[in-house]
Amino acid sequence: MKKLLLVAATMTAPFAVTLAHANDEALLTEARKVATTLPPKLLVALQEEISKSGTEGAISVCKDMAPRMAGEVSQQTGWKIKRVSLKARNDARAIPDAWEKAALEDFDKRAAAGESPAKLEKGEKLGTEYRFVKALPVQGLCLACHGPTEQLSPAIRAALGQHYPNDRATGYSEGQIRGVISVRKAL
Ligand code: HEC
Repeated sequence: MKKLLLVAATMTAPFAVTLAHANDEALLTEARKVATTLPPKLLVALQEEISKSGTEGAISVCKDMAPRMAGEVSQQTGWKIKRVSLKARNDARAIPDAWEKAALEDFDKRAAAGESPAKLEKGEKLGTEYRFVKALPVQGLCLACHGPTEQLSPAIRAALGQHYPNDRATGYSEGQIRGVISVRKAL
């Protein structure tokens, strides 16, 4: 009997491992899909708004539209979504927790060592949750509001100063990592 159990155990163990692996892969795919729906939509909205009402008018896209769209995707998918950064502009919602901070620091190192920032991501089960982050690289368009302070227009500088007295999110150059989009779901 003991022998039989042992045989059964050796036969089912690899199967269980494969299943767990497949489950992790499915979660990673789902998380990646949720995290990648938002940035292209935001980019289009930013471009449209900038051409319509100038950079200053587009502040509301990053300020109001981004969190609203994140809320909508959360409702549709059941994943919580936020954007966090090592140099947060919005103190109330963009400060990373320890797991996000470690990923952000790792991404910065890897980007500095030559990895493509657009490809940097991390997903894993953590306690009773699945968590995933994906890097948001700085593009030319972002510099109007996240570039070196002396290169921002006076109107942008004034608007940012008014809404974000603790703003840390300037001084970036193209290709750096502005932050991550962070998604999580209870398992
Ligand atoms: C028109 C100005 C403007 C442009 C252009 C802009 N942003 Fe922002 N960005 C903001 C503002 C304002 C906030 C603060 C949003 C808030 O209150 O949550 C912000 C916040 C963010 C955040 C959230 C973390 C934080 O620091 O609060 C990320 C990530 C981000 N921007 C990335 C980008 C990227 C990437 C681009 C280019 C594709 C970009 N932004 C272009 C104005 C801008």
